[in-house]
Amino acid sequence: MRHLMSPMDLSTEELDQLLDLANDIEKNPTKYAHACDGKKLATCFYEPSTRTRLSFESAMLSLGGQVLGFSSADSSSASKGESVSDTMRVISCYADICAMRHPKEGAPLVASQKATIPVINAGDGGHQHPTQTLTDLLTIRSLKGRLDNLTIGLCGDLKFGRTVHSLIHALIRYSNVKFVLISPEELKVPDYIRNDVLLEHNIEFKEMVRLEDALPELDLLYMTRVQRERFFNEEDYIRMKDFYILDKAKLELAPQDMLILHPLPRVNEISVDVDDDPRAVYFKQAQYGVYVRMALILTLLKEAEK
Ligand code: CP
Repeated sequence: MRHLMSPMDLSTEELDQLLDLANDIEKNPTKYAHACDGKKLATCFYEPSTRTRLSFESAMLSLGGQVLGFSSADSSSASKGESVSDTMRVISCYADICAMRHPKEGAPLVASQKATIPVINAGDGGHQHPTQTLTDLLTIRSLKGRLDNLTIGLCGDLKFGRTVHSLIHALIRYSNVKFVLISPEELKVPDYIRNDVLLEHNIEFKEMVRLEDALPELDLLYMTRVQRERFFNEEDYIRMKDFYILDKAKLELAPQDMLILHPLPRVNEISVDVDDDPRAVYFKQAQYGVYVRMALILTLLKEAEK
């Protein structure tokens, strides 16, 4: 059974095929309107979500399928002490495919080991968020025209931001991709990303504190929110939360063709006066999330039928 736990579960060729399929879905939605007739998607979300859960549901409905699930641990039998493994065995009887979000790193992987249906990691703690990465790659490829030869600024909470970890993992497979890691000292990328991913693969990167210093050289700026839910104390969060605020004045330092992405939700890190700038593509990015999740559901269900 094929699952998706990390972007690295897909070869570069498979990744390209998935993005091609997502582009075709975008152009020809009616062609796919009945592709999943009779199929059910379970969304098992033990942690809050707007985009990921609803875009998965929208994706399955757009494919002609149906959806069921829960949106918090409190509204499931997890609140009575049920393990993710047991829950997954049961969900396998009710649905054809499952998207799971969980605050504990590795929980969707544990669930997948007991599943008889494909399981998709919809975000596990501060670890990985592969379908956000697919969304990001589709956005970059569609709007920038390429995934190679890019200088990418990743800004904000690079320690706890799982979207950043997944995106770095995926992008190192393309040639001449350079990273500028912009964060306060306390929120730098974890050592396993710096050592085992960037240094191990000889990827060019530098670390900076000031966003203003990085902006002029970027093809792409990926802003992230400070992940309040992963902090051990509120004081540290309050000290860090407004460390970066991208506003119209700072944006004047950036190239005219630099794209601004953000996985959303945004808090204060991008001022609303940036939203009308043509470089701001974070709401388009959320739309691409539906197409790529449609492509993923179709691909995994097809593989499961083999
Ligand atoms: N980008 C993202 O994962 O958003 P949600 O937390 O709203 O799903």
